[in-house]
Amino acid sequence: MVEAYDSDELRIFDNMYDEGGALGLQFGTGALAIFLQKTFDVDITTSDFDDEEVEENIAHNCRANGVSPVLPHIRHSWGDKFPTSDPDWDLIIASDILLYVKQYPNLIKTLSYLLKSYKIRDKKTGSEAQAPWPAFLMSWRRRIGKEDEAVFFSGCEDAGFAVEHLGSRVYCISLSKT
Ligand SMILES: C[S@@+](CC[C@H](N)C(=O)[O-])C[C@H]1O[C@@H](n2cnc3c(N)ncnc32)[C@H](O)[C@@H]1O
Repeated sequence: MVEAYDSDELRIFDNMYDEGGALGLQFGTGALAIFLQKTFDVDITTSDFDDEEVEENIAHNCRANGVSPVLPHIRHSWGDKFPTSDPDWDLIIASDILLYVKQYPNLIKTLSYLLKSYKIRDKKTGSEAQAPWPAFLMSWRRRIGKEDEAVFFSGCEDAGFAVEHLGSRVYCISLSKT
């Protein structure tokens, strides 16, 4: 389960996550969410296509890996109305979800909702002034054409996001400050 995510991605996640809440977009198996929950005790919610079998599969994998109760899950297909009206996830995380260029506008629509409607859950103390939240942290190991990559990143910028490459093909997408 762990080999799919290398140490750079996990170090970046660990640096950014600060006892807030995280939403894992498009987990498929739930492996990353289960690993993060067990390793960092992250308050994490999984999400994938609006599909019963996917939800059951993630719940099965939670139980098989000793995560009980199973992680909360939200069924959501990108671009559809998001079922939560007050999203309060500090970090949205995903790994290798950019497969089909024609889905990029839908994904950007979902991210726009999650980041722009974000309501902070708890008043944090200390370094919140520099906090990167809310943010979308995405690793993108599958290589696709440079033009397709550009379509996604320019779509993010057009939607009012800043895109930062943190290294090792891990990207942080957050609300642009300008
Ligand atoms: C290559 S898999 C990534 C698997 C996952 N990151 C992991 O490590 O197990 C791509 C994921 O994106 C999800 N996905 C693709 N298009 C989607 C869409 N339009 N709406 C919601 N989920 C989508 C798929 O269901 C799948 O879980």
